[in-house]
Amino acid sequence: MTAVQLDVAAARSAFPAVSSNSYIFADNAGGSQCLRAVAERVTDYLLNTNVQLGADYSVSVISTNRVAEGVEAARQLLNAASVDEVAFGGSSSMLAENLSRALEADVVEGEEIIVTGEHEANAGPWKRLASRRGLTIKVWNATPSPKTPNNPYSVSLHLETLLPLITSKTRLVAFTACSNILGSIVPVKKVIAAIKAKAREVGARKVETSVDCVAYAPHRRIDVQDWGVDYCFFSVYKVYGAHLSVLYTRAECIKSSLSSLTHHFLSYDNSSLKLQPGGTGYELVYSTTAVPEYLKSLSSAGTLEAGFELIAQHEQTLIRPLLTYLKSKESRGVRIVGEESADPSRVPTVSFVVVGPQKKSSKEIVRTFDQAGNIGIRYGHFYAYTLIEGLEPKIDLADAIVRISLVHYNTVEEVEKIIELLDLALV
Ligand SMILES: Cc1ncc(COP(=O)(O)O)c(C=O)c1O
Repeated sequence: MTAVQLDVAAARSAFPAVSSNSYIFADNAGGSQCLRAVAERVTDYLLNTNVQLGADYSVSVISTNRVAEGVEAARQLLNAASVDEVAFGGSSSMLAENLSRALEADVVEGEEIIVTGEHEANAGPWKRLASRRGLTIKVWNATPSPKTPNNPYSVSLHLETLLPLITSKTRLVAFTACSNILGSIVPVKKVIAAIKAKAREVGARKVETSVDCVAYAPHRRIDVQDWGVDYCFFSVYKVYGAHLSVLYTRAECIKSSLSSLTHHFLSYDNSSLKLQPGGTGYELVYSTTAVPEYLKSLSSAGTLEAGFELIAQHEQTLIRPLLTYLKSKESRGVRIVGEESADPSRVPTVSFVVVGPQKKSSKEIVRTFDQAGNIGIRYGHFYAYTLIEGLEPKIDLADAIVRISLVHYNTVEEVEKIIELLDLALV
């Protein structure tokens, strides 16, 4: 029988940093804690099988297999059709930059790329490509929700504002599956279907999609096949693993849209090697095997889908009290930046500012937490610079917002402690 609730104590026990002290990790959108099994595999690889891949001697055979298992683990996390569609790299920002360079020969001057104001990782590379190749950049902005007219900062991405941006010249739409500030989830499958339908209607030559799943991957199941996405990336270090990132490129796009970033002979090899200049951190790739194993172990059904369902369900119990508390402080000037409601299209990344006569800076609020000790939250624009810059009324970019970002190993008791500290910070 499938467990109906996440066993939070069991989940926590897989993370030495979480289970061995009373520290509250609440900056998880910056980077999650690492599974014990991940660290053990890094060590094991380096101490026992640290040789070059692809040779016939026995240790090389083992290391080759171990790295192949890591690529397979990433394939599972993406639900990609083939391991040939998976590339690794040091960070998502680097992978997106690589992708834009690999795509460079397949764009035509005058074409258009649509980006969001969310994390710059999936915008900057396209802006630079546009300036190199004479393309036009359009921005799909997060706009206020009609459901919360009293809060201009309760913004999110709405499909209705994207569709008019698509023209016969659109070449690529790059967006986030989940905001690292707003916490809201974009219905990726629906958005991609709408983009493709509109592109057909207006007669666009070729429209592809690049989806940033960095803030999405710790909370929900990625399914690149179901979504029909062309390119997609996430960072393993935010999904309980080591510091490396994964890029999905659809087989057809590898063949017809992407050039090899390095060696000319890799152009004939229609795999993601085109996007992977040189070797990856083998020990880190191997350690990724522990991530889907762990996520599957969370449910008795033993699937990623069931694991993520339990994660989403538990995370709802964290979001609700936090949002309810922050909303109760509206008269104190607290404004949630992002979705105000804890419906299932939201993850427990909760951001806010304090405005009005009783204003307190984000920095001051975070200082109260730092002084309390044993808890980590932070403030800033979190590289979603354009999003914060576009908020109306304006907020100071240097001070930006306070962000509390939780994941499934956080507890309701920790949220209560966070609320106590917020009460102290807001006096
Ligand atoms: C939504 C989002 N996209 C991209 C990134 C960049 O990831 P990386 O640090 O792996 O480049 C981050 C990092 O915070 C992020 O939150």
